[in-house]
Amino acid sequence: MTAAPAPGAATNGASDTADLLVLRAAQLLTAPATPGGAPLIGAALDSPLLLPDAAVACRDGRVAAVGTMAEVLAAFPEKRARRILDASGLLVAPGFVDSHTHLPFAGTREMEFDARARGATYASIAAQGGGIASSRRALLELSEAALADRVVARLATLLAQGTTTIEAKSGYGLLLEEERKQLRALARAASQSPARVVPTYLVGHAVPAEWISRREAYVSALAEEAIPAVAAEGLARFCDVWCDVGAFTPEETRRLLSAAASRGIRPKLHADELGDAGAARLAAEVGAVSADHLLHASDAGIDAMARAGVAAVLLPGTAFTLGLPYARARAMVERGVAVALATDWNPGSTMSSSMALAMTMAVTQMKLSPAEAWMAATANGAVAVGEGDQVGRIQPGYRADLTLFDPPDYRHVAYHYGHDHVRATVVGGAVVHEASGPSRCS
Ligand code: NIG
Ligand code: FE
Repeated sequence: MTAAPAPGAATNGASDTADLLVLRAAQLLTAPATPGGAPLIGAALDSPLLLPDAAVACRDGRVAAVGTMAEVLAAFPEKRARRILDASGLLVAPGFVDSHTHLPFAGTREMEFDARARGATYASIAAQGGGIASSRRALLELSEAALADRVVARLATLLAQGTTTIEAKSGYGLLLEEERKQLRALARAASQSPARVVPTYLVGHAVPAEWISRREAYVSALAEEAIPAVAAEGLARFCDVWCDVGAFTPEETRRLLSAAASRGIRPKLHADELGDAGAARLAAEVGAVSADHLLHASDAGIDAMARAGVAAVLLPGTAFTLGLPYARARAMVERGVAVALATDWNPGSTMSSSMALAMTMAVTQMKLSPAEAWMAATANGAVAVGEGDQVGRIQPGYRADLTLFDPPDYRHVAYHYGHDHVRATVVGGAVVHEASGPSRCS
């Protein structure tokens, strides 16, 4: 756990001018290099590279060198750097990759939070017209431009919390026109923010009330009209379906995800969140990039995911919010699944944008070590959005997305929870967020 990363060679020519030099980090954490940015599996998840007295050189938006101060400064002298960030006493880590959010949502649902405290359940609230249907109504009230403004503000919040890559799903429109509004608002917001946004079309989230008696026709319309339209406009990198007890069946999910795959959009699944619907197995069958939630995934489903190379995106905030059992993270690690960690930020089941808090819950409730939680929140999160060779690591050639944290020990970030530890956030070698005032770590 203490081996140093090899000093990075310059990736884009031999110039020694850095656009940004991050110097004197008390500790630098990153994943060890893997071929093609492959995920960290099994014991590798618990073996990050940790480097004292470290530095990073960024050039042309990417990491040009990483290593000890002496190594990096030998290749990129301080006097030639365009900008320097002094990381004395700080932790430097890859920007978090939040591989599962419902970011372009409209409205909030604190009334459901209140109702659950008084005994209501997620399912009973949905049955009474709340839940996803309530967010659908709020979406109808909002213009695409107004929604985009909200997403820009949320992306700023995420950057301030150290998250630099964000997967973001539609799924509250339910019908093509409103889904498209969500995805277009997301694209508009992404063009106005330095954050990296990975858009996902959540095509199967709930059957709209007016289609309940014509469920099969609804699924056909999604497969034959909505998916082709979204694909033709290039609005989504991934397509997602909630395959669960009380949501879409494996047959419906298979149909929707193959319609998407035939148009070049890779599948993701909300899988086995409320019960064991066989969604984990289905994720393996359809070659999904990830299956997410998995609170009730069976051993057979987990083994199938491991064999097929499907990442498990675990969302402890959802179990925390809804009072559900946590996903069996340890079984997944031990059975060879690539485990990632994300927030699930949405107004219903998880109103949290904090990857640091997700790591705390992963450690205290799912028994990942702090090192495993970090790797799941960075390198493996990148794999879960198809970006394992681009983001989630501080490694030469990777995008220069880094976060500087006040504590000098990576374990402290999850350990001291409910506290903002972020000092600065860097995306593509540019400082996009800086905390004001002195370090608040104690
Ligand atoms: O990931 N499981 C389904 N969808 C969301 C919640 C959606 C909502 O309640 O708004 C989730 O938890
Ligand atoms: Fe979700």
